[in-house]
Amino acid sequence: MCVCVCIYMHGLLIFLCALLLVKHLRDVLTNNMPPGPFPLPLVGNFINIDHVDQIAERYGDVSTLYLGNKPCILLTGYESFKEAFVEQADIFTDRPYFPIVDKLSKGKGLIMSSGHMWRQQRRFALATLKYFGVGKKTLENFILQECRFLCDSIQTERGLPFDPQHFVTDAVANIICGLVFGHRFEYDDHNFHLMQKYLDEFLQLPISNWGRLYNQFPTLMSMLPGKHQTAFASISKLKPFLQEEIRKHKEERDPSNPRDYIDCYLEEIEKVLVSQDALFTEDNLMYCVVDLFGAGTETTSNTLRWALLFMIKYPEVQEKVQSEIDQVIGQTRQPLMDDRTNLPYTYAVMHEIQRFANIVTFTPPRMANKDTTVGGRLIPKGVVVMPLLKSILQDKNEYSTPYEFNPAHFLDENGKFLKKDSFIPFSIGKRMCPGEQLARMELFLFFTSLMQCFTFLPLEGQTLSLKGTISVSSGPEPFQIRAVPR
Ligand code: HEM
Repeated sequence: MCVCVCIYMHGLLIFLCALLLVKHLRDVLTNNMPPGPFPLPLVGNFINIDHVDQIAERYGDVSTLYLGNKPCILLTGYESFKEAFVEQADIFTDRPYFPIVDKLSKGKGLIMSSGHMWRQQRRFALATLKYFGVGKKTLENFILQECRFLCDSIQTERGLPFDPQHFVTDAVANIICGLVFGHRFEYDDHNFHLMQKYLDEFLQLPISNWGRLYNQFPTLMSMLPGKHQTAFASISKLKPFLQEEIRKHKEERDPSNPRDYIDCYLEEIEKVLVSQDALFTEDNLMYCVVDLFGAGTETTSNTLRWALLFMIKYPEVQEKVQSEIDQVIGQTRQPLMDDRTNLPYTYAVMHEIQRFANIVTFTPPRMANKDTTVGGRLIPKGVVVMPLLKSILQDKNEYSTPYEFNPAHFLDENGKFLKKDSFIPFSIGKRMCPGEQLARMELFLFFTSLMQCFTFLPLEGQTLSLKGTISVSSGPEPFQIRAVPR
């Protein structure tokens, strides 16, 4: 009897597996999606996900990849980006739904929100950044002040080995703090570092394996221990910091003289109370602040750390940058944004740093709000679209040596700066980075100030890895450096 049941169960299991396989084959072969590697049942192309370059090379700029049993479209190449995000801008503005994002931010904030909510928050953020002087002198002076704090702190290391991560991240985070909270923090402020730690845990989750597992099995994963639970706890620990800032702002603010993003947002909440449009709330304010920090700190600080790493790896480039700065600016005054045009080599190096560092490998995913085509291939409504910026920044047709650090990529034959339309590290279209101007200002002023004040050197016998970390924005692995005052 027992043997019969066993054989019966065995048979049933084989039958169900065969059924699943047939269904999988039918789904994959008849869905009309762009071509791509064949997905395994249940796991899809998880094994191919780290080799997306090869997939694009083999299947073209619009290909299909399966995350679990869900198809998603891999978009590569500048022409495809333009066709999708610029020519069909209104079709591709929304972000797809992911259980992990829903759990972390409930569809609020700036980065992962969609529709009317996103439009309102984005418009407001752009207007506020502009109001507080992005691209103007007031903000330039604030960044220059932070450049001095950064250089003074590095000076205290007295040319001895140190890891630049903490100083650089604090300096960059302080610029967002100035815009959002209206004040900066000292580099040894314990709460400042705690806030950064919680933010980091929260932001790393969506692209970690824990995040991927949560997206596949949300109910199961919400009951299991793991790094995702640490990240969920981080949001709860982060909230009191932000709530305290908001409370202080409410007490101290003068509506006729807003000091920062929070003041402006509180003003908007009051207006909205009158109009009954509930998109501006204190809860949403918190998520927007988290997004501004998340998108604005790690990206810029990682780029600057890559910059330092490349300068010690390619000392001849560092020397040329310093000699150009010495000639144009000298040693007695700080660099200014206006110096950019007179520093073509330095400016080209900055572009090459961004190109070669390629910190945002995948831009946050999009989806089409109706069936459409890109490059003649179907993109069905609602399917996740994964845009791969790396393919554009390493385009063989655009850069003579795409896999080498080579500032000549951005110089013409007369040594003048060469602008390239396809250089889009901030992406393009309606969802392109709203912090581009701010980031460019920060990168230029911090980089030139550091190059003016110090010569950066490797440690004796050090082997420098150019491998990036796997993260929302990829930075170099931790490294030690020496900064010798000039
Ligand atoms: C080197 C520095 C930076 C790089 C390379 C960078 C790059 C990007 C990229 C590629 C995107 C995705 C755009 C898309 O989905 O098409 C993005 C989005 C975003 N960035 Fe940046 N970014 C940088 C700095 C900043 C700064 C300083 C801020 C602060 C204001 C910021 C705020 C944002 C926000 C809020 C979004 C989401 C926009 C949306 O979904 O509408 N970023 N960034």
